[in-house]
Amino acid sequence: MTKILVTGGAGFIGSNFVRYLINHTDTSVTVLDKLTYAGNRESLRGLPKNRFTFVLGDICDASLVHELVRRNDLVVHFAAESHNDNSLRDPSTFISTNLVGTYTLLEAVRRYGTRYHHISTDEVYGDLALEDPDRFTESSPYNPSSPYSATKAGSDHLVRAWVRSFGVEATLSNCSNNYGPYQHVEKFIPRQITNVLDGGRPRLYGAGLNVRDWIHVDDHSSAVLLITTEGKIGETYLIGADGERNNKEVVETILELLGQPRDAYDHVNDRAGHDLRYAIDSTKLRMELGWRPIFSDFNTGLAATIEWYQANEAWWRPQKAQTEATYARVGQ
Ligand code: NAD
Ligand code: DAU
Repeated sequence: MTKILVTGGAGFIGSNFVRYLINHTDTSVTVLDKLTYAGNRESLRGLPKNRFTFVLGDICDASLVHELVRRNDLVVHFAAESHNDNSLRDPSTFISTNLVGTYTLLEAVRRYGTRYHHISTDEVYGDLALEDPDRFTESSPYNPSSPYSATKAGSDHLVRAWVRSFGVEATLSNCSNNYGPYQHVEKFIPRQITNVLDGGRPRLYGAGLNVRDWIHVDDHSSAVLLITTEGKIGETYLIGADGERNNKEVVETILELLGQPRDAYDHVNDRAGHDLRYAIDSTKLRMELGWRPIFSDFNTGLAATIEWYQANEAWWRPQKAQTEATYARVGQ
């Protein structure tokens, strides 16, 4: 496996995966990215020219996608509209990118017999009660809540249909909430860190008791690389690092790490249809492929992430005012 096409490689997780590939393999990487508001060319700065190519374009552009897929051995598909709050304001781009874009890639890998890995989310399974002893597994029923998660669920179904009906060689992974460097300031953890760095306060939706299962983005990348080399065609693997925390606890930890009082945050309007809890059981990935996360301590990973945002204001500053203006319009 020498040539890999990474869609959405200028986004948060895609850019981390590209750096991970460059640092841990000898593959050549081509990124296809539309550079939406969420894509940032700066996240890919400094990669070696002899192993890295950037192509500006849309995954819904069939002729471009066919040309790139034809030239590569593996496609790893990260590109998506990824933010739940945006999908509540305007679902249209979620339908085109997450559904039509995935369809376009699947038709191309079908045409050229190219291996494909599909990046998805634990949100396709809906949410769990706080006290539920069960966690999501590969056999949990699909029950998405938001326009975002419904389009991701639909894209997963398309992949499985193309495997079964057309013999496409694909694997899938569904991961829990990622944190780490280069994450857009619209997302929970970077928004709260940069609010505090700006002299403002964290903004907690509702009571702040919703639980997310946090994983460091490096651990997501190591799992994806392992699945593309060792995973069984047609199989799905859940990726998670046993990182359950409620939002209030996360905000309190951010405040403490930044030397602020633990209660210096505001409660704001809740998200419509807000999923209560996500939790991943990653036994299959660990037992069958031997995967282990490196970042086992959330607070250590969070402290390193805070340091990154402190040291890289030039990266996040251009996005901050517009992001906060959009939230302010809906009282968040
Ligand atoms: P992101 O929003 O940071 O990045 C998305 C990237 O896709 C951007 O670079 C954007 O420019 C690009 N893109 C969007 N539409 C495109 C199009 N039509 N054509 C080409 N490029 C396009 O997203 P992220 O948080 O890095 O998520 C990446 C993937 O991982 C998504 O598929 C998401 O569903 C999945 N995922 C994310 C998380 C998480 O916690 N962030 C967890 C599990 C799964
Ligand atoms: O579970 C995986 C999913 O995680 C991915 O599929 C999505 O792409 C990714 O965005 C993320 O979705 P969430 O909706 O869980 O992440 P978000 O960062 O938007 O919010 C995390 C939690 O924090 C959620 O309960 C809402 C809450 N929140 C969010 C923001 C932006 C707040 O309380 N305040 C905020 O300002």
